[in-house]
Amino acid sequence: MTAPSPSPDNPFDRDVLPSPPGATAALLRSLLAPMKARAVLTTTLLLLQQAAAQAGPLLVAYAIDRAVPAFREDRFGPLIAVGVGYLLCALLSGGLQVAFVRTSARVSQDVLLDLRGRIFRHAQALSIDFHERYTSGRLISRSTTDVESLRELLEDGLQELVTVVLSFLYISALLLWLDLGLGAVAVASFVPLYFLIRLYQRRAGRVFRARSTAIAAVIVKFVETMNGIRPVRAFRREAANDAAFAELNRAHERTNGDSLLEMARYVVGSRLVANTAVAGIVLWGAYRVASGSLELGVLAAAVLYLRRLYDPIDRLGMFLNSYQSAAASLEKIAGLLAQTPSVPEPDQPRELPPSTGAFPGRAVTFDGVRFAYRTGGEVLPRFDLTLPAGQTVAVVGATGAGKSTLAKLLARFYDPTDGRVLLDGVDLRDLSTAELRRGVVMVTQEAFLFSGTVADNIAIGRPDASREEIERAAKVIGAHEFISTLPDGYDTDVRKRGGRISAGQRQLVAFARALLADPAVLILDEATSSLDVPGERAVQRAMSTVLRGRTAVVIAHRLSTVEIADRVLVMADGRIVEDGRPAELIAGAGRFADLHQAWQDSLA
Ligand SMILES: Nc1ncnc2c1ncn2[C@@H]1O[C@H](COP(=O)(O)OP(=O)(O)OP(=O)(O)O)[C@@H](O)[C@H]1O
Ligand SMILES: [Mg+2]
Repeated sequence: MTAPSPSPDNPFDRDVLPSPPGATAALLRSLLAPMKARAVLTTTLLLLQQAAAQAGPLLVAYAIDRAVPAFREDRFGPLIAVGVGYLLCALLSGGLQVAFVRTSARVSQDVLLDLRGRIFRHAQALSIDFHERYTSGRLISRSTTDVESLRELLEDGLQELVTVVLSFLYISALLLWLDLGLGAVAVASFVPLYFLIRLYQRRAGRVFRARSTAIAAVIVKFVETMNGIRPVRAFRREAANDAAFAELNRAHERTNGDSLLEMARYVVGSRLVANTAVAGIVLWGAYRVASGSLELGVLAAAVLYLRRLYDPIDRLGMFLNSYQSAAASLEKIAGLLAQTPSVPEPDQPRELPPSTGAFPGRAVTFDGVRFAYRTGGEVLPRFDLTLPAGQTVAVVGATGAGKSTLAKLLARFYDPTDGRVLLDGVDLRDLSTAELRRGVVMVTQEAFLFSGTVADNIAIGRPDASREEIERAAKVIGAHEFISTLPDGYDTDVRKRGGRISAGQRQLVAFARALLADPAVLILDEATSSLDVPGERAVQRAMSTVLRGRTAVVIAHRLSTVEIADRVLVMADGRIVEDGRPAELIAGAGRFADLHQAWQDSLA
C-alpha cells in the first residue's frame, strides 16, 4: 500500500488538472453573478459604516482646537456636540457593522453551497475512466480543504480587504484634507508598501500552491489506506504506511513553515515602512506645531489616523494569505469542473424502438469495435458480435482476456475507441442515460450496498417499486430467507450493527436490485462468485425465470453457470476464439472442451 507514484502519462496524478485558460476567472464570475444585488448592498453598508467609524479622530481634532478653547470661555455647546457626535458615530458604525456582517455572511454561504453542489454533481457525472485515474482522496480534498480555503477568503478575507481598502481611501482623503503636506507623506508611503505586497504575493503564491498540494497528498494517502484497511492488516503494512504517511505529513509541515516565514518577512517589512512614515510625520508635524504653522489638534488627529492607517497592514498580509490559498484552491476546483465526461449524454437522444410484446429482450451488436483503456494498450483489437434478442450467452476465458471490458462497453461505462455498440440497432451513444439504464443493467462481483435499509438497496433498481414488488424480487432470487432473519427484516440498516451482511448475501441483494430494474439486457460479471454452491444453485434455478425473454451476458469462471446458457463464447486476448452451443463445444476438441474437462475433473 505505498502511495501510487505519479506516472508521466497520467495528467490526473497532478492536483491541478489541465483546464482551458480563464477557467478559474469564469468559475468565480459564475459563482458571484447571482449575488450582484446583495454585493451592492453589502458594499453600501460598508461605505456608510466606514464613514461613521473614521469620524472619530476628526472630532478629536475639533475638540482640541475648537471645543476646548470655547469651554475655557464658558461655552459648553461645542464640547457637548463633540461628545454626542462621537457617541452617535460609534452607535451607527456598530449597527452598520452588524448589518454588513449578516448580509455578507449570507452571500458567502450561498456561494459555498453552490460550489459544493457543483463539485458533487460534476464529479458524479464524470465518466468511470476519470474516476479510475483521479483518486477519491483528491476529490475529497477538492470538496473539503479547497472549499474551506475559499470559505475563509469569503467570510474573513474579503471583508478584511474591502474594509482595509476603504479605510485607506477614507483616511488618505481625510489626511490630505486636514493637511496637504502630512497627507502627501502618508500617501507616498503606499509606494514601497505596494511593492512589498506584490513581492509577497508572488512568493507566497508559490508556497501556497505547494502547501495545498502537500495537504492533498496527505488526504489521498489517508483515504487510500483506510479504504484498503483489510489488505493493510493482512499484509502487516502498518509500519510501512506509518513511515510513508509521516513523510507526507512532514512535507506538509515544511510547506506550512515556508508560508509562515513568508508571512513573517512581510510583516517585518511592512512595519518598517509604516514606522518610518509615522516617525517622519510626527517629527515634521511637531516642528510645524512649534513653529505655529500647524494646529495641535490636527497633528493629534493625523497621528490617530496614521495608527488606523497602518494597523490593518498586518491583517492585509493575512488576507493575502487566504487570498493566495483560495486562488490556488479555486484553480484546482476549476480544473475539476472543466473536465468533460468522456462518455457524454447525446445532444439529441434517440428512443429505443418499442419492444415486441411480452418479450423484453433486445438485440445486441458489437460492430467493428476496438477498444483501449486510456492508460494501457488495446484490449479489444477488433470485435464483432451479434446477440439476438432473448439469448443467454456465457462468456468464458482466461483472466485478463477482456470479458469484463466487453461487459463494460455494453453497459456504456466506456465508449469504444472505434466502431459501435448497438442495442436494437441504436448506437448506445445516442441513447439518453435514463433509456440506457432501463435497457442495460450490470451486476458485478463487488455488490456495493449504499447506506440505508435492505429494502432501499433493492429499490435502487426501481425507486417507485412497492414493498410487495421488492419482496417478490428477493423471493425469486432466494434472498428472502436471509433477509427475514435480519434484526429488522427488510428495514434493517445495512451499515448498522446487526445489519452487516456477508459478501454472498450482498450479491443476492444486488441480484434482487437488478431483477427489480427489469432491464432488456442483463449482464452478470462474476455475479455469483461469492455464493456458496447451494446459493449459486439457487440463483441458477431462479435464473431460468429471471432471464426468460431477456438478453443476458453471463461471465463466470465456474462453469456450472454455463449450463443455463444458450450459447458459449470463449475469449482469448480480446477475441472470440470459440462460439457455439454448450453441448457442441463440449463435444468438440477446442478450448472449451478442455476447460470443461478440467472442471469436471476438479469436481470428481
Ligand atoms: N480500468 C482499466 N484500465 C486499464 N487497463 C485495464 C482496465 N481494466 C482492465 N484493463 C486491462 O484490460 C485487459 C482485460 O481486462 P478485463 O477486466 O476485461 O479481463 P477479464 O477477462 O474480465 O479478466 P478476469 O477474468 O480476471 O475478470 C487486462 O489486460 C487488464 O489489464
Ligand atoms: Mg473480469
